Amino acid sequence: MILKFSKNSKTKIDEILERYPNKQAATLPVLFIAQREFGHLSREAMEAVAKILETSYAHVYGVATFYTLYNKKPVGKYHVQICGNLSCSIMGGENIQEYLKKKLKLNFGETTQDGKFTLSSVECLASCGTGPAMQINEAYYEKLTPEKVDEILNSLK
Ligand code: FES
Repeated sequence: MILKFSKNSKTKIDEILERYPNKQAATLPVLFIAQREFGHLSREAMEAVAKILETSYAHVYGVATFYTLYNKKPVGKYHVQICGNLSCSIMGGENIQEYLKKKLKLNFGETTQDGKFTLSSVECLASCGTGPAMQINEAYYEKLTPEKVDEILNSLK
């Protein structure tokens, strides 16, 4: 079953398509809209993207699986993505990674039983000068300390 985009998403996709030379060139932003709409990029969601872009499922699948920022399986309400690259590591990122694992009782790639948090180690978040950096859904957090992590996680309902 191919999923259908909402009217709101279709409007956004139409706006995006106007800015690209052809539909296939808009694969990345349309995948983001699909991820936001369907929660993750299931086969059905990628087929919906392929249909709307008039391209093959293989093309969409190839793009979606190349980038770690697209979720190919369901994630929790809050997707906690901690940077695992060098600059953040030098700034104490490894300690923050371990702290998050302990605090959430998760390994990378796992989701809490209540579906609230998924923990991932990700590539550079382009915040190298202010690491350790973390992204939760679409919000960025920088200069992390264990205390700051506690504050952030406690603020999430
Ligand atoms: S290395 Fe962590 S944000 Fe760039």
